[in-house]
Amino acid sequence: MATIETASENPLLPAPRPPQRPLGLFELVRTVKDNSIATFTDDAYNLDFLDRSFLWAHAYIVNDPEAIKHVLLDNAMNYTKTRLARRLLEPGLGQGLLTSDGETWRRHRRIMAPSFDPRSVASYGPLMTEHTEALLTGWDQLANGAELMLDQAMMRLTLDIIAQAMFSADAADIADLVATGVERYQIDVRPTLFDLIPLPPWMPRLRSMKFAKQIFSEFDVKIDRMVTERRAGKIERQDLLARLLAARDEETGTGLSTQEIRDQVITIFMAGHETTSLALTWTLYLLSEHPGVEAKLHTELSEVLGGRTPRAEDVPRLRYTRMIIDETLRLYPPAHTLSREAMAADEICGRRIPPRSVIYVVPWVLHRHRKLWERPDRFEPERFLPERSAGRHRFAYVPFGAGPRICIGAAFAITEAILILATIAQRYRLRLKPGHPVEPRGLITLRPRNGVAMVLERRT
Ligand code: HEM
Repeated sequence: MATIETASENPLLPAPRPPQRPLGLFELVRTVKDNSIATFTDDAYNLDFLDRSFLWAHAYIVNDPEAIKHVLLDNAMNYTKTRLARRLLEPGLGQGLLTSDGETWRRHRRIMAPSFDPRSVASYGPLMTEHTEALLTGWDQLANGAELMLDQAMMRLTLDIIAQAMFSADAADIADLVATGVERYQIDVRPTLFDLIPLPPWMPRLRSMKFAKQIFSEFDVKIDRMVTERRAGKIERQDLLARLLAARDEETGTGLSTQEIRDQVITIFMAGHETTSLALTWTLYLLSEHPGVEAKLHTELSEVLGGRTPRAEDVPRLRYTRMIIDETLRLYPPAHTLSREAMAADEICGRRIPPRSVIYVVPWVLHRHRKLWERPDRFEPERFLPERSAGRHRFAYVPFGAGPRICIGAAFAITEAILILATIAQRYRLRLKPGHPVEPRGLITLRPRNGVAMVLERRT
């Protein structure tokens, strides 16, 4: 469907201005700490392959979809999570699914997979919309035109949903801790000079793990209590915690240790809410700037739902809603950078890759690549129409990663984002507070630096 676009219908979107030349070491460290997506020069958005090696540390950014397929899927056995990613995440997440590798990862992924299959995801639909409606009931108490911080509201909403879906818990006290923990962790756990200069792997790093211990020790006490109560309790549950507690090794018959369970619980809490809440925050921000897209969304919602609460079965028919989410994940991918370390030498884009090289697949860059996307910096959900997606390489778009390490929660996240967006947009229109600066900031995830202040407009 052709649309006539004016400049105000399709404004330029916030993104850091690429530096004129590759940054020197100190500038690079400073910029990575403040906003890692601000380090990419124009080259990164134009070339298939960039060599970012420094001294004896080999590092490459790969934008060629075939090469990305090679790293994430075809030769995935040769690529592990990087030491830097582990150093940043392990103090909090331990050996959870995001950080582990090899046999431990395979076994744990097998145990957890049933909680994320299509039937389970559909079963979470009612609790996703109930929590959203409870949030809207709160908004109904506010005056029309009231202001609120959307990012905080979405963070709390997705946190409450993940707690209930995965742990059946009224885990309000744990959720409170996670909410403050994530914030501090992202600010505190940023790479230092000593993470970025290629020190030999046996050298100790200067980073103290004290802060991570502090953040998570309270959390550990509460998880221990939740696990103990569940082990002692008589109530039968079918949730992820029940699966973790019941799992037995096929050969030895042993179950998961309390530490292993704790690591998975915190990983799911962390990985399972912040990314989706960011996807929703960016989506509602983009809609506030694109009234034409918003009007089409409203048309679809009234045709498919006619004012009623959406259900998981409606998701396949909410096609335009889905395209809006897909387009947001292209422009503002919450997981903006993926990294892998080569175990053995390999060849990528005709170049020899020595062992221990780090390969970066950067959705932030890839999804805005000049050769792969038309008008890459514009918000155009229609680019995800089936006929316009047909010629696109599957690995040109990887908001959830790909291959064996693809996000276990992708279907959960898409269903949740569609149901929440459909519920909110039927009752409210959100408008960016005039003058509020919106700026994407690459920390562990892609966050709006100043949050997103919105003005509420009730739809009549
Ligand atoms: C829009 C929302 C989300 C985005 C953009 C996202 C993105 C990603 C990406 C890119 C990866 C792969 C990382 C890599 O290859 O290095 C990943 C892995 C993972 N995600 Fe998500 N995610 C989202 C939602 C969720 C949800 C809702 C959950 C849980 C309920 C979740 C749990 C995980 C876990 C446990 C992994 C590690 C999987 C493994 O290595 O086996 N994510 N996610």
